[in-house]
Amino acid sequence: MTNYARFLNRISSLRRDSPELGAAKKDLLRDPTLSTNEKDLLRRVELRLDSSDEMFVAGRAGHYLSVGLSAMRCLDASLENSDSIQGPAPSILDLPCGHGRVLRFMRARYPSANITVSDIDPTAMRFCQKTFKCQGVVSIPDFDNLELPGPFDLVWCGSLFTHLAEEDSKGLLRLLFRNLSSKGTCVITTHGQLTVDRITSGHDTYGLTQSAQKDTLSQVEETGYGYAGYEAGGDYGISIVTHPRMLELVAETGTWHEAAFIDHGWDGHQDVYALRHN
Ligand SMILES: C[S@@+](CC[C@H](N)C(=O)[O-])C[C@H]1O[C@@H](n2cnc3c(N)ncnc32)[C@H](O)[C@@H]1O
Repeated sequence: MTNYARFLNRISSLRRDSPELGAAKKDLLRDPTLSTNEKDLLRRVELRLDSSDEMFVAGRAGHYLSVGLSAMRCLDASLENSDSIQGPAPSILDLPCGHGRVLRFMRARYPSANITVSDIDPTAMRFCQKTFKCQGVVSIPDFDNLELPGPFDLVWCGSLFTHLAEEDSKGLLRLLFRNLSSKGTCVITTHGQLTVDRITSGHDTYGLTQSAQKDTLSQVEETGYGYAGYEAGGDYGISIVTHPRMLELVAETGTWHEAAFIDHGWDGHQDVYALRHN
């Protein structure tokens, strides 16, 4: 594809609803397992898609939307028995926003919220900022030096811990803790026991070589936290953390606690933790 064709593709994807998402939405609206509230939410969801959204796999548009709906179930469960969200304009952080797979549902659920989006990919962040009317901050690898316009009443951090070494995960926890409002709820996702099982059984490699898989599993066995870079020595890859080790990291990084835990709750895959101030 020429640069010009790519440019035209990009412009049209910014302006139009994705036909694939449109068709998947129609199918989902016929799904009897979805509640009336979920169908109402789905009807209001923005369907513009950025052509470089790596979370969107052609032919799997239904899954893309289901992952967003599943995240909303996790957020609802995490917010139960809390007064984190009060009034029509709560402050919300989505980090990393990617190209808005979950954000499009959060925007539909909280139309007048002040939402901040952040991602290390500036193009993704800008797409979200414009399409979903948010404030945007380009992220950096060093979370201890990242400034965000907090405090936030609700934080969604979906699938970032899943790619970080333990020290970086600690930095990310510190960042989220210092930007969480006193009554706020911070919802994060990790790879846990299900990922151990999937790698062990050969069901999935998570993009790791055999020796990296083996190494990651033995780290989990020894310390509770395993990590391997996609490239040897790289600072972005696949991590797995046990529930007890995650609770230790939470306690080490702030005066907060686990308010809820959902074992492989996000999309039947990633573990979900809801964290609140003590
Ligand atoms: C698996 S994707 C998840 C994106 C989004 N949460 C979703 O569910 O579609 C991981 C995202 O993390 C972003 N990322 C990687 N390192 C980051 C960092 N240091 N700060 C913020 N975002 C980062 C990537 O650019 C990518 O968009």
